[in-house]
Amino acid sequence: MHPKLKITVIGSTNVDLIIKSPRIPAVGETVIGGEFFSAGGGKGANQAVAAARAGGDVTFISSVGSDDFGAKSIEGFKEDGINTEFVKIFENSSTGIALIMVDSSGQNSISVASGANVDLLPSEFSDEIIERIKSSRILLMQLETPIETIEYAANLAAQNKVSVILNPAPAQKLSDDLLKIIDIITPNEVEAEMLTEIKIVDIDSAKSASEVLLKKGVKTVIITMGSKGCYLRTNELDFYQQAFKVNTVDSTAAVDVFNGALAASLSLNKNIIDSVKYASAAAAISVTKIGAQDSAPNKDKIESFMKSYKTKLE
Ligand code: RIB
Repeated sequence: MHPKLKITVIGSTNVDLIIKSPRIPAVGETVIGGEFFSAGGGKGANQAVAAARAGGDVTFISSVGSDDFGAKSIEGFKEDGINTEFVKIFENSSTGIALIMVDSSGQNSISVASGANVDLLPSEFSDEIIERIKSSRILLMQLETPIETIEYAANLAAQNKVSVILNPAPAQKLSDDLLKIIDIITPNEVEAEMLTEIKIVDIDSAKSASEVLLKKGVKTVIITMGSKGCYLRTNELDFYQQAFKVNTVDSTAAVDVFNGALAASLSLNKNIIDSVKYASAAAAISVTKIGAQDSAPNKDKIESFMKSYKTKLE
């Protein structure tokens, strides 16, 4: 494969400890009757796995602790065909852990102990890592990694004509210098509001928020709105994609699956509208199953889901 067809993901690796229970407890409350699961997680790792399963050629740059969680995570990435040579093991840190509570409608609440994820600083970037980023077609990142690393890598990518996709999660303010070198930004409603101060309540407000980001120099804005679908805006395009209707078991990582599948589709030369449809289908499949990486579908599953969904509507 031409080296420019490759995807590099920079981001977090966590192990998710999940309890699915009737509802998410209020502060000071204990809710019993839950079921426990553990699964691979971390926004970076979820997106890397989703991209690889959706057909992308993926290298993952991440950091884990020197514990069983870290070793098992790396094993899992390898099983998905991800290049893990740049997943660094930090001797004095522990692997990131996320405590996730999922209620009966599939909504969640997450608390993260970042562990080794905070060690992934620009000073850790060897010449080989820098070369890998420069020779990628797409660089996909999120915000569970130190912001100086995101800014450093985005600049490196932009100077070398590598497309930067930023999923700005968890929500935080971003500098105009960073925004102007982002090719595709994919905030959800909360993140879009944080970045633009416009509350997203419908397509019109999503459009207004997108225009603020386009003015700051972002080339493509995709606002994801969960079961309300997603809105795509560039200077030339204005497109709304309805969410595929499914039975939601766990919405954790749906956005990560969306981003991974989006990157995979773009890396396979699909246009942005087709890629948004493909990513939406992948995200819909993911919410029908518990767990982050456990729920990311492969290319065949996404394609057959899209075909059968279309047939159902006809
Ligand atoms: O986006 C979902 C992810 O956020 C979970 O897998 C958890 O690890 C947190 O990072």
